[in-house]
Amino acid sequence: MGVAERNGSLVIEELHKKFHVGAGEVIALRDINLQIREGEFISIVGSSGCGKSTLLRIIAGLENGHSGTVRLGDRRVSGPGLDRGMIFQEHRLLPWLTVEENVAFALNGRTPEDKRLVREQLELVGLSGFARAHPHQLSGGMAQRVAIARALINQPKLLLLDEPFGALDALTRIQMQQEILRIWEVERTTMLLVTHDIDEAIYLGDRVVILSSRPGTVKRIVPVELPRPRDRSSYEFVQIRKEIYTEFFHEAEKPFAYAI
Ligand SMILES: Nc1ncnc2c1ncn2[C@@H]1O[C@H](COP(=O)(O)OP(=O)(O)OP(=O)(O)O)[C@@H](O)[C@H]1O
Ligand SMILES: [Mg+2]
Repeated sequence: MGVAERNGSLVIEELHKKFHVGAGEVIALRDINLQIREGEFISIVGSSGCGKSTLLRIIAGLENGHSGTVRLGDRRVSGPGLDRGMIFQEHRLLPWLTVEENVAFALNGRTPEDKRLVREQLELVGLSGFARAHPHQLSGGMAQRVAIARALINQPKLLLLDEPFGALDALTRIQMQQEILRIWEVERTTMLLVTHDIDEAIYLGDRVVILSSRPGTVKRIVPVELPRPRDRSSYEFVQIRKEIYTEFFHEAEKPFAYAI
């Protein structure tokens, strides 16, 4: 499918989500409004428990009981679908299947066309030589590349990434950031990346969405208008990092300020 045929724009309107816990309730998300352009790379940051995974799960169609709307292209999201791919912190590969079988898992048949698609995806993530390996024979970074290939095999309009590099060591993490950038530049899939790592958010995103903690609301959206690949030590990069940290500390310090 050509990029022109996709409509990977995402519109979220008035999204609210609460969970019932025992006799009480937790408001996980409140008043979320977001408009994401086709092919845009959005990073989402926010403190633990602020509703980031809940937001991605709603967009993936894995949650119900919320109010508001999520539209991908011209379709309203009402359940899971192949137009969205998701990648989690842990790779979630099936250990008894080979790399190529894992990647092919979401495809219907084992036609020559399917085999070609699998080969192409493995090439895209740089794992052509590991098609017959099993997940336990891979490093963490390699396994996550397989998860990326698997998520991309159906050419989704939107890729949802929930802390995909959170379990990797610092150097592998940086390599994987470069890798996802390269893949995005080839595929131009709309990307929604949740991360705890502010540098990662700035390095990758066209915009960084900052969520406030419970209930999760959009606190600020910081555009990152720097050419790629970005230099993490450049003056502009450091300024944006400072700006985002200030938002965080402002919030994190509130309870202490009251206690003094
Ligand atoms: N199935 C559930 N039942 C009840 N409460 C839930 C459920 N899932 C999430 N929550 C609550 O909703 C809030 C948001 O959770 P969520 O997992 O979306 O946060 P998060 O921002 O992804 O956190 P983290 O950064 O730690 O991954 C939390 O208060 C959590 O306890
Ligand atoms: Mg989470």
